[in-house]
Amino acid sequence: MKKNTLVRKFNKQASMYERNSRQRTLGMWRSRLLQDIHGKVLEVAVGAGANFPYYNRDTVDLTAVDFSPEMLNSARRMASELQLKVSFQEQDIETLELPERSFDCVVSTLSLCSYDDPLAVLNKMNRWCRPGGHIYLLEHGISSNRLLGFTQHLVNPVARRISGCHFNRDMLQIVHDSEVEIVNTERYWGGMVHLIWAVST
Ligand SMILES: C[S@@+](CC[C@H](N)C(=O)[O-])C[C@H]1O[C@@H](n2cnc3c(N)ncnc32)[C@H](O)[C@@H]1O
Repeated sequence: MKKNTLVRKFNKQASMYERNSRQRTLGMWRSRLLQDIHGKVLEVAVGAGANFPYYNRDTVDLTAVDFSPEMLNSARRMASELQLKVSFQEQDIETLELPERSFDCVVSTLSLCSYDDPLAVLNKMNRWCRPGGHIYLLEHGISSNRLLGFTQHLVNPVARRISGCHFNRDMLQIVHDSEVEIVNTERYWGGMVHLIWAVST
């Protein structure tokens, strides 16, 4: 799918993401994932800023990137409501260049489903993070339940066209194949949702 088509798709979904940004189950996972985060943090594909309530504004120095201007507008509203200081960048993560080893932590929630090459993005995240720094992932992908997984493969082409996301990626395998070192993983909702704590190598 062309990048400008994808950006338009996500622009249209921004108000929905803003409304759902405090969804309870996701909120519980976001809170669990990010409970110890501090320092210089990069959040890729920030969307409507749904993780912002889980950052401590006294201990987190946040840079947030997304290629959708409407998502960034929603995220700016969330940051202002929480009085969280954020440096926003409107950029495509897949082509973005940032100084290597310049962040203490990198966060990606529900973003690896949308890139053309999620493995390459994870490896970029690994390089943007200082060695031993933390990489926090909350991602959805193919279920560990075979019937559910089969259904996800079936609906993926249509779901991708509508939402811009892939629903059948083997997220754990992608993270295993990347340069990051996995520290801990948890799996929920029929194995479709992953919380992954990793460190940069
Ligand atoms: C499913 S939403 C998740 C938003 C947010 N991270 C969350 O947890 O709610 C995916 C987000 O990724 C952004 N995105 C997708 N591909 C991107 C890319 N190549 N570069 C930058 N942002 C991208 C979209 O604009 C959208 O905001």
